[in-house]
Amino acid sequence: MIRILFIGDIIGRPGRKAVQKELPHLLAERKPDVVVANCENLAHGFGITADTIAEMTTAGIHCFTSGNHIFDKKEARTLLEDRPYVLRPMNYPPEVPGNGFITISLPENRSVTVVSMLGRAFMPPVDCPFRSMDRFLESKETDIVLVDFHGEATAEKAAFAHEFDGKVAAVIGTHTHVQTADERILPHGTAFLTDAGMTGAVNSVIGVEKDAAIRRMRTGINEHLTPAKGKYWFCGCDIRIEENGNTFIDRIMIISK
Ligand SMILES: [Fe+2]
Ligand SMILES: [Fe+2]
Repeated sequence: MIRILFIGDIIGRPGRKAVQKELPHLLAERKPDVVVANCENLAHGFGITADTIAEMTTAGIHCFTSGNHIFDKKEARTLLEDRPYVLRPMNYPPEVPGNGFITISLPENRSVTVVSMLGRAFMPPVDCPFRSMDRFLESKETDIVLVDFHGEATAEKAAFAHEFDGKVAAVIGTHTHVQTADERILPHGTAFLTDAGMTGAVNSVIGVEKDAAIRRMRTGINEHLTPAKGKYWFCGCDIRIEENGNTFIDRIMIISK
């Protein structure tokens, strides 16, 4: 059996603190082989830094998927080249630094391939995620594949998951920062959750300080948004893939006191 713990978008310091608080007991209880987290909002809500990635690696995360905010901080470009376990979406143009997937080797000749993919509905233009996934599956001998599909539209995520049902072990959505309660196993065995949700402050507008978010919407004037503080949500899911190919998924939502 292979067990993967997936953590939805970690938002700034409050999100990182939530990981440090909740991950130890999840590791002890669930004993995952691989821990994957979406890191696009890790550094003060926007992008990544070497320090924040190191902090989360120390906390127990093995591999990071991402999305449209991955290059918000300049240092991401070199960071991605030096750290193959930090992914940028696979369907960015080929000249973009970094990789869209990584194969993680596990004991007893097992491995897991993690793919980061970006949706196109209500998102910045990128290459077609369907064709990108076709090409990837044609070119690579892979066994167990987990895809983080980072997208705004629920229908695009469901269509992608059904298109690759039976070809990948799991499709887990991210980006909306709101967890959906629709975890299921598709007819050909792929585990699917439309959105894993975020790991960050509950009393917020999808993780950021609410007053600034409201002002921005009322006035149309862009202003800097910062991660909200206080009570947190730790959101994600736990996927198990048995030797015979049977797959299971549990949704995880922990709310702090
Ligand atoms: Fe995000
Ligand atoms: Fe995003």
